[in-house]
Amino acid sequence: MPYTLEDVTRLIEENMPSLSPTASKVIKLANNINTPPAELTQVIKLDPVLSAKVLKLVNSSYFSLSNQIVSLEKAVILLGLNTIKNLALSAAVLAQMESGKAHKDFDSEAFWKHSLAVGVTAKLIAQKRGVEKKVIEDYFISGLLHDLGVLAEFSVFPETVDRLLLAVESVNLYDAEDLILDGLTHCSIGHVLAQRWALSEELSNVLLQHHTPWDFDKPSELVLTVYIANIICKKHGIGLIMGVPPFEPDERAFTSLSITPSVENEILEVIEAEITKAMEFLKV
Ligand SMILES: [Fe+2]
Ligand SMILES: [Fe+2]
Repeated sequence: MPYTLEDVTRLIEENMPSLSPTASKVIKLANNINTPPAELTQVIKLDPVLSAKVLKLVNSSYFSLSNQIVSLEKAVILLGLNTIKNLALSAAVLAQMESGKAHKDFDSEAFWKHSLAVGVTAKLIAQKRGVEKKVIEDYFISGLLHDLGVLAEFSVFPETVDRLLLAVESVNLYDAEDLILDGLTHCSIGHVLAQRWALSEELSNVLLQHHTPWDFDKPSELVLTVYIANIICKKHGIGLIMGVPPFEPDERAFTSLSITPSVENEILEVIEAEITKAMEFLKV
């Protein structure tokens, strides 16, 4: 019997924890550009771990500020709503994922390296395109979390993991899933998880659309950027490669973003150094 999206929703509810109330509240407040920093600071203060992360991040080499910041509110102002949101989101998601049990044949280290590499690549592409500074971090987080559906898939369908890992030796992951899970993929599963965690619509769309942007009406710049970043990282074997990837991004993605495929070489020159730097963001 094929699984339906309703089954996936139920299985995710049964098998995957919700985000913590503080994390959800921070993400919700930070999504509203009119939230005063003082109000956000009050909520962050309720969570000592998150408070420490905010201060550590603002003082880390990731932001390379010259003065030591000790006030939480000042840190919130300096980092900005969007970075705080992304910090709370990535910390909450990573904590959830670490608490989950990984399949014995799943290389989670390589998986996170792939995730980080796609985050960094998406951010570099956005920087090259001159994307507004305050949304640049959205590109990083979207790349970082684009394959969350893979983790969700492995925890709600543990019995299919062996078959999937075998199948990806000869076809790409998306096609293997489509076949084995009868139309479901890590994209549709990730989208259900994104809804359950009330992630933003832009991010949910990245989870859903990053392999097949043109199956959807007007894919966003964020989706197209992550689509290109994902293929570049797989093509160069940066982190986990599951399945036989398409080796070149579709020309249409470059045209829509007004960039040329030469962006790939520029990225390759700096990617390893940028991955090391980005680890700082996750380690805090
Ligand atoms: Fe993917
Ligand atoms: Fe990926």
